[in-house]
Formats: sequence, structure tokens, C-alpha cells
Amino acid sequence: MVLIDGKKVSADLQQEIMSKIGHFSTTTGKVPGLVLMIVGLDPSSQLYVRNKAKTCKEIGINSTVIELPAETTQDELLERIGALNADPEVHGILVQLPLPPHIDEMTVTLAIDPRKDVDGFHPENLGMLMLGHLDRCHVSCTPLGILELLGRYGIETAGKHCVIVGRGNLVGRPMANLMLQKIENANCTVTVCHSATRDLAALTRQADILIVGIGRAHFITADMVRPGAVVIDAGNNRIEDPSRKSGFRYVGDVDFDQVSGLASAITPVPGGVGPMTITMLMSNTLQAFRRQNGL
Ligand code: GUN
Repeated sequence: MVLIDGKKVSADLQQEIMSKIGHFSTTTGKVPGLVLMIVGLDPSSQLYVRNKAKTCKEIGINSTVIELPAETTQDELLERIGALNADPEVHGILVQLPLPPHIDEMTVTLAIDPRKDVDGFHPENLGMLMLGHLDRCHVSCTPLGILELLGRYGIETAGKHCVIVGRGNLVGRPMANLMLQKIENANCTVTVCHSATRDLAALTRQADILIVGIGRAHFITADMVRPGAVVIDAGNNRIEDPSRKSGFRYVGDVDFDQVSGLASAITPVPGGVGPMTITMLMSNTLQAFRRQNGL
């Protein structure tokens, strides 16, 4: 069994991105700029944004965190986004989700210039992905990170049956479209399962590559996995653990202890897909910078 080390791949990739940024800043005198916006004080969102800003600093992306109070109106937020769209030193804009209930997420997503939408959430970016124009869009970070992991571990994908569990906008939906593309590390036959799927285990057992993103701890058990399958776990669930000082720990959507004995390769949680998400955000920001500067 191969343990897919997302931390290692992430570190390697960050080195590569850093040296490209160094090259472009030497030759052009410009650096990529990313603005991270957060509305309200949700502790896990604050932690995510802090980690994103820290990684930017480490690899040479100029990041700005805009922290807005929870009472910020939708119009105020849209106005801030408009100003960032017009700012040539800002190449990427990320609005951390979820937003407070009085703000409509789709309205905010639509307000971001698709070229600066490094999350790949704008319908123009998702539409270009669906149509196969990967050179004209930004692909969302978690699915892109998974594709990179499959590639770096030399996992054969062409013609394989990829079963995706979950149809959410962050993982399942873009992931299905990406695995369907006639490109390297994809080109799969894709099945998408969700909460209304009948006899889920019968389908997941057909998977050569099983990708799970549903947000339910230890949902995928040994009886749902074919021996020899590649198992990718995009889940990150906080569960109580009295043995820890904090009182909790993070686990995936896959029951790792059961499934790792069957899989030919598997991502752990933490240390699998998670570290790749931030790294692909850096990669998308570099891509946005290059496209906006014709580099
Ligand atoms: N909230 C949880 N994951 C993400 C993400 O990838 N991007 C944004 N903007 N918000 C998130």
C-alpha cells in the first residue's frame, strides 16, 4: 500500500512555485498579489485565512488580508470587490466562505472578475472547465490538488472508473468534471454518487479510483472498497477525542484504519489532500498573475 504524502508533494510544489515567482519578479519587477477577504469571526475560517497568508509570505506572493465585521452589508462587500477588480496589483481575490446569512454567496462570487477568481468558483470558470477549456479558467483548488497527487504518484487514470462520493460545489461537482477531461491524470469514466444514491456500496466497490468529499467522519468502510483501489479522501471532520489535550482531532470521510489494508494507495487525513488545497491556491495565483501580465 502506498501512502500518498500530500505534505511532501505540497512542499515540493511550493518550492517550484517559489522559484517561478522569483524568476518573474526578477525579470519583470512585478510580484503576484492575492487579497484574502473574511467577513465575521468564524474561528476555522480565520485559521484557514491565516494559513493561506502565511504560505503566501513563504513563497513570495504579496498577500493582503481584509477582515470585515460580521455586520458588513452585501453592498459594502461588493464595493470592496469592485475596487480590487480594478486594481492592477491584485491578481487574485478570495472571499472566504461561508459568509454571514445576510450575504448571498452567489452574488458575491459573480462580482469577482473571473480572471482574478483563484478559487475557481465563478460560473465562467466552472463553465470553461465543463467545456474543456482549461487554459481559459481557474480550477478550484481541492480538485486540482487531487489531480496533482494522482500525477505525482504515477497513478494510471485513463480509462479507469473514477467514483466520486459527494456532489458539493467545493469537491464533487468540479472533481467530476475534471476527471472527465481528456487530459493527463484524468480521462476517466466517472460516476457521481450522492445522498440519494441507491446501493452506494455496490457503486463504490466498482471504483478503480474512489474520491470522497461529503463531510461525514469515517463514512467509507472496508465493505465499500474494492481491494486494490486508489482511495482519495477530501474530508476533514473534527471529532471529539478525550485523549487529546485539545479534546478533538481531525479525521477524513474514509475509515482509514479499515480501508488502508485494502487500498493500493490512499491519502491520510491529515496530511493528504488538505495541504494540497493551499498549494493549489498559490499555483492559481501565479497562473492569474502570468495571464494578467502576458507571461
Ligand atoms: N471555505 C472552505 N474552503 C474554501 C475554499 O477553498 N475557498 C473559499 N473561498 N472558502 C472556503
